[in-house]
Amino acid sequence: MADIKYDGRVAVVTGAGMGIGKMYALELARRGAKVVVNDLGGARDGSGSDSAAADLVVEEIKAAGGEATANYDSVATFEGGQNIVQTALDAYGQLDILINNAGILRDRSFLKMSEEEWDLVLAVHLKGAFCVTQPAVKAMKDKNYGRIVFTSSTSGLYGNFGQTNYGAAKLGVVGIMNTLKLEVSKYDIKINTIAPTAWSRMTADIFPPDFEQKMNPQFNEPMVLFLCSEENQVTGMTFAMGAGWYGRTAIVSGNGVCIGDANRPIAVEEIRDNFEQIASLEETKPHDNGGSIFAYMAPLLG
Ligand code: NAI
Repeated sequence: MADIKYDGRVAVVTGAGMGIGKMYALELARRGAKVVVNDLGGARDGSGSDSAAADLVVEEIKAAGGEATANYDSVATFEGGQNIVQTALDAYGQLDILINNAGILRDRSFLKMSEEEWDLVLAVHLKGAFCVTQPAVKAMKDKNYGRIVFTSSTSGLYGNFGQTNYGAAKLGVVGIMNTLKLEVSKYDIKINTIAPTAWSRMTADIFPPDFEQKMNPQFNEPMVLFLCSEENQVTGMTFAMGAGWYGRTAIVSGNGVCIGDANRPIAVEEIRDNFEQIASLEETKPHDNGGSIFAYMAPLLG
C-alpha cells in the first residue's frame, strides 16, 4: 500500500499552536500539505493572546522543509473564522482540509456556573466550529472536494463532572456534523468527528504523571490524518481514541416498541408497562439521518 500523502492539499488546523493540534499541523506538513497554523495563543481558560504559539509551529514546519502560514484570529467570531479561511486562500489559493481543534476550559459545577463561563466555552467550541467551517465549506464546494474534522469530547458524548458548558458545546459539534454531512455530500466533502484523549495543558492536572507518555497527543494524529486523506470515504462518523486505542462511537436506537394504532390516545400506564422494552439497547443501530427514525414507526404509519 502506498504512503498517505497530502501533496497539493491545503489544510487549516485551528488551535495548532500546542497540544493535539500541533501534532496534526506538523504531520500534515511533513506529508506534503501546506498548512495554516491558527492559534490565538491564550491561556487554558481562553484569556489573553500571544502570536508566538502559532509562529513557533510555523517555524518548526519550515525548519523541517515544509510550508506553513500563521494565523492568530480567534475561531469564536464570524470575522475571525472568515480571516482564518482567507489566510489559506490568500497564501495557497485553495482549502482542502479543515481540522476544528481549538478549545478552552472553564470548568464549574452546574449550580455555580456563571453566564460568562457558559458563553465563553460555547463561543469557542460550538460557535467557533460554525464560524470557521462555513467559509471553509464555501471554498471546498467550489473545488468539489473537502475533508473536515470536528473535535468533540467524551465529556459531551458521555458526560463528565463539572463540564456542562464544555459537554454541551462538544456534543453540539456532533449536531453540526449530522446535518452538514447531508448538505455537502454531493461535493465530496467528508465530515467526521473525533473525541480525543491526550496529555496536554488541558489534562496535565487531572491525569497521573505517567500519562504524559502513555497519553501522548501524537496518538490522536494518525486517525485524524486518515479522516483528512483522499482515501477516507466515510462521513458523519464519530471516533473516540487515546493511548493508541481507536474505536467508533455513535448515537444509536434500540428497537423500541410500537404501542397503539393512531386511533386512540396512549396512556402513561402503557409506557410504564412497556418501559423495559422501550429502554432496551439490545440490537441497536446507528442512524444515517434524522428521517431514519421513521423506519421504527413504519408498522404504525402504514
Ligand atoms: P491545548 O490547550 O493544548 O490546545 C488548545 C489550543 O487551542 C491552544 O493552543 C489554544 O491557544 C487554542 N485556542 C484556544 N482558544 C482559541 C480560539 N478562540 N481561537 C484559536 N485558537 C484557540 O488543548 P488540547 O488538549 O490539545 O485540546 C485540543 C482539542 O481537543 C480541544 O478542542 C479540546 O477540547 C479537545 N479535547 C482534548 C482532550 C484531551 O484529553 N486533551 C479530551 C477531549 C477533547
